[in-house]
Amino acid sequence: MRIGILGSGLMGGKLGTIFARAGHEVVFSYSRDQRKLERLARDAGSVARPGTPAEAARDADALLLAVHWSRVDDVLKKAGDLSDKIVVSCSLPMSVDDTGLVVGHTSSGAEELAAKIPTARVVSAFNTLPSEVLFSVFEHASDSPRPSVVYCGDDSGAKELAARLIIDAGFEPVDAGPLRIARYTEPFALLVAQLAYEDTRGPALAYRFEWLDEVGDRIQSDATGS
Ligand SMILES: NC(=O)c1ccc[n+]([C@@H]2O[C@H](COP(=O)([O-])OP(=O)(O)OC[C@H]3O[C@@H](n4cnc5c(N)ncnc54)[C@H](OP(=O)(O)O)[C@@H]3O)[C@@H](O)[C@H]2O)c1
Repeated sequence: MRIGILGSGLMGGKLGTIFARAGHEVVFSYSRDQRKLERLARDAGSVARPGTPAEAARDADALLLAVHWSRVDDVLKKAGDLSDKIVVSCSLPMSVDDTGLVVGHTSSGAEELAAKIPTARVVSAFNTLPSEVLFSVFEHASDSPRPSVVYCGDDSGAKELAARLIIDAGFEPVDAGPLRIARYTEPFALLVAQLAYEDTRGPALAYRFEWLDEVGDRIQSDATGS
């Protein structure tokens, strides 16, 4: 697939590299440093190149939106017409100084984004992960079980594509339902980020779902007596 990266920072730079290494054609865009886009493309391999947001969007089968919330309007404007485009967003609706959520339980960043680009097909994914885990999960993609990643959206075709990207990145996709479920996954993502950096536990907290799965299995076997 052709994947346009809108925002080539910690998330976009790493996920774009992973998508390229998984065999997708990738265009890295939207950095203040053109040389960084060139370096990312060079390091990612021959299927990657630097470009503008409009170039990243033009022929893309899917776009990864990975900018700070305060940059969303700007990057969307630079990307141009996104009609029918699949937009996988890992962006979280944070205030400019990263101290609070911009939207809460009655809406979500993903829904606000979908309202900004009503003709695009928005999926929320990857935002429950700290970027630090991405490369090591990709390198261990053949391990089992894979760490889970929740995603949500209202367009089934867009969700299928997002699930494939999640699998290509080495994770197990978990369909959390319609886009409005981002009202619950986004605060969870911020909780994980907050806890991950508060003490020495670090990004390993991204794997907490796995641990809960094990506990869930134990509770279930206790309940059934097996
Ligand atoms: N980092 C994580 O672990 C993580 C995890 C889950 C979700 N998220 C969410 O994912 C989104 C991206 O996060 P990130 O950590 O990848 O952010 P980041 O490292 O700051 O990357 C953002 C990208 O936007 C670019 N950009 C272009 N113009 C900019 C401007 N004027 N001001 C600021 N940035 C500009 C940055 O350019 P430069 O290359 O010049 O910096 C960078 O490439 C955010 O919404 C975040 O909440 C992040």
